[in-house]
Amino acid sequence: MRDHGGDAHPVQLDVTDEKSVRSAAEWIDSAYGRLDALVNNAGITGGAESGAPSATPLATLRAVYETNVFGAIAVTNAMLPLLRRAPAARIVNVSSEVGSLTAMTDPESPLRNLNLPPSVPYPSSKSALNMVTVMYAAELADTPIKVNAANPGYCATGLNGNSGFRTAEQGAEVSVHLATLPDDGPSGVLWGDLWTEGGANSSGVLSW
Ligand SMILES: NC(=O)c1ccc[n+]([C@@H]2O[C@H](COP(=O)([O-])OP(=O)(O)OC[C@H]3O[C@@H](n4cnc5c(N)ncnc54)[C@H](OP(=O)(O)O)[C@@H]3O)[C@@H](O)[C@H]2O)c1
Repeated sequence: MRDHGGDAHPVQLDVTDEKSVRSAAEWIDSAYGRLDALVNNAGITGGAESGAPSATPLATLRAVYETNVFGAIAVTNAMLPLLRRAPAARIVNVSSEVGSLTAMTDPESPLRNLNLPPSVPYPSSKSALNMVTVMYAAELADTPIKVNAANPGYCATGLNGNSGFRTAEQGAEVSVHLATLPDDGPSGVLWGDLWTEGGANSSGVLSW
């Protein structure tokens, strides 16, 4: 980012560690006094250990929720005082269309082509994150803060052994769009890659 002229500063953060979350918020407070955009991007899948629904190891389920759901809530709550100090803050929860009950139950959805084996931890964590998004958007509706869920689409990253057909940059563009929404932009929606509806590389609001 610095090579491209950005004034970038890294902050160490483990979203599952309350002390780490608090320290990151304190650092941002002392360095900047406010936060304009929070992208809750951290996510894990549980991998092959997730198993079939009937064989879900609770330890894997708990670990995935710790990062994907509880982590997003912990970081958001720690950062909210800073976000409220910004003129028009944006919160982006990086979700997925596999968290969309509509997409996952649509027999016409191209998601079927991925032949994803049924499993509970990752998809249900993203469904939970979607509802978390809706609830924060409702609480903050009378403020300038907008809260949305992002669907980056199927991107080649370490999360899926680089099997995705979109690039990480294309996925990140979805978060950037939501983090820089104008004042009349939406709040409380799932927005991003519309593979399920509009073909490659079109974007818009997805059904929950
Ligand atoms: N790739 C896709 O096709 C796809 C599709 C839909 C949604 N998503 C979502 O996009 C987001 C980014 O995933 P990705 O594809 O870029 O996967 P990735 O390459 O595996 O990146 C995941 C990121 O999460 C961070 N992370 C994991 N646990 C963390 C924790 N406890 N505290 C802080 N950071 C933590 C990792 O940090 P370290 O590297 O330091 O561990 C890593 O930077 C995730 O929320 C994922 O669910 C991805």
